[in-house]
Amino acid sequence: MKILVTGGAGFIGSTIADAYLEAGHEVVVIDNLYSGKRENVSTKARFHEVDIVSPKIADVLDAERPDVVSHHAAQMDVRMSVASPAFDAEVNVVGTIRLLEAAVKAGVKKVLFASSGGAAYGEQERFPAQEADRTNPVSPYGVSKRSGEHYLFYYHAEHRLPYIAFRYANVYGPRQDPHGEAGWWRSFARSSWGASRRGSTATASRRATTCSSRISCGPTSSASRAPSSAR
Ligand SMILES: NC(=O)c1ccc[n+]([C@@H]2O[C@H](COP(=O)([O-])OP(=O)(O)OC[C@H]3O[C@@H](n4cnc5c(N)ncnc54)[C@H](O)[C@@H]3O)[C@@H](O)[C@H]2O)c1
Repeated sequence: MKILVTGGAGFIGSTIADAYLEAGHEVVVIDNLYSGKRENVSTKARFHEVDIVSPKIADVLDAERPDVVSHHAAQMDVRMSVASPAFDAEVNVVGTIRLLEAAVKAGVKKVLFASSGGAAYGEQERFPAQEADRTNPVSPYGVSKRSGEHYLFYYHAEHRLPYIAFRYANVYGPRQDPHGEAGWWRSFARSSWGASRRGSTATASRRATTCSSRISCGPTSSASRAPSSAR
């Protein structure tokens, strides 16, 4: 199968792209290198340095004609979204719309979307949140991620474009920028304070080892208790 990964030079997108390659799929990566790194993209994948907000995205999808689009490109900094809601919406809402328009025209069979658990639920009514719980996002980033889900619903209703939205909690692992906003969880897991919060240093170091060997999600409840950094 041919899978196109947007944001495939970033932390999660590049890890997923590698997993697709390992599973024997053909992989195409789109990324404008806003926060991603060229070296994260496998030499086995075809790379297009393109901004998803740009109309050029349609040309890439038309040329590549992927079966599946795995959409991970985003402005994913909550504080940035508060400082510049319009920029956040441009990338996360307009960029997603441009991609979905292009996907319909290119005959894509399914879209996978990296939504957000902590940020989309926002002010949770109970812990842990259930999928059917109301979403009350309290940051522009949470609003834009939830909007992405609404647009997927619309493109499915209007154009029969199948999709799955994944509401990731705080994700940590190799290739994550430990100084970036979402790096707090990885740093916490490695800190002695994190160790004592988990009961023992051994437990914490086991978890840190798990971090470096695979990609994992942190607990939704702790993500939700820290809304300023919940992704
Ligand atoms: N990291 C987390 O804990 C977490 C939690 C929930 C959801 N998510 C979502 O998962 C996805 C990946 O997050 P990540 O942690 O890997 O972040 P990341 O910053 O490492 O990856 C995002 C990628 O998107 C690219 N990008 C940004 N704007 C772009 C644009 N306009 N056009 C093309 N490419 C663009 C960046 O260069 C980067 O490579 C995002 O959609 C994010 O919202 C992340």
